[in-house]
Amino acid sequence: MKMRKIIIANWKMNPQSLEEAKSIFNGTKRAAAKLKKTLTVVCPPFVYLSTLGSSISKGKLSFQAGAQDLFWKEKGSYTGEISAEMLKSVGAKYVIVGHSERREYFGESNDIVNKKIKAGLKAGLNVVLCVGEKDREPGVFLRYIKDEIEEGLKGIQRVFLKKLIIAYEPIWAIGKKGPAADSPEDVLQMSIYIKKILLPIAGKELMPKIPILYGGSVNPKNAEGFLRDAGVQGLLIGHESLVPEHFGEILKIAEKI
Ligand code: PGA
Repeated sequence: MKMRKIIIANWKMNPQSLEEAKSIFNGTKRAAAKLKKTLTVVCPPFVYLSTLGSSISKGKLSFQAGAQDLFWKEKGSYTGEISAEMLKSVGAKYVIVGHSERREYFGESNDIVNKKIKAGLKAGLNVVLCVGEKDREPGVFLRYIKDEIEEGLKGIQRVFLKKLIIAYEPIWAIGKKGPAADSPEDVLQMSIYIKKILLPIAGKELMPKIPILYGGSVNPKNAEGFLRDAGVQGLLIGHESLVPEHFGEILKIAEKI
């Protein structure tokens, strides 16, 4: 059976007002509304999540809201933090964990990422684990990805992995305006490698069902190549997800493949 494509919008710390957020969200929702075979997930900043999430009609399974992070504790004295249950209560069904920007600017180690993944999966959220190397230093970068996956998923029972998604995002390819994304050929190699790492962790029944996405400077021009030739089930999109026309084009491409 062909699995549906998953296209996730990671807005990061954008836009700067709720008004703008509503406008981007509504544009995205309109573009996603016509699709049948593609799941669209929009991950706005926390502060917009409840307003935007509550405007998604219940039962509309192909358009969902998600968060960009969470804290692993359920509640308590953790100033500034947001729990999985809080996210669920405002309509989030997905959460991104371990994005390279969180690892870089907030010192998130694989151990912290592991705690966050556990909390998200235990609460029933779909967790998008981001992995990716800083550069392609031979002999080093493959080990780096392996550690991110193995340590990130350490001690998690297989039943919980049904709601796991892996996003491969090479750090050097993120946030570029020009043609700086990875190539579908290289991403295909990486997706095969990631599946190999996942096999002993998830088992042979579940491993093929764990979606692998590509992220890093995806735009309407290169999206098709990744979706067709890179062995991935979808895309994680940063800056182009803030332009509904561009994001909408990518959704159309996903739908027709
Ligand atoms: P980008 O971001 O599409 O702007 O490269 C992707 C990401 O960091 O998730």
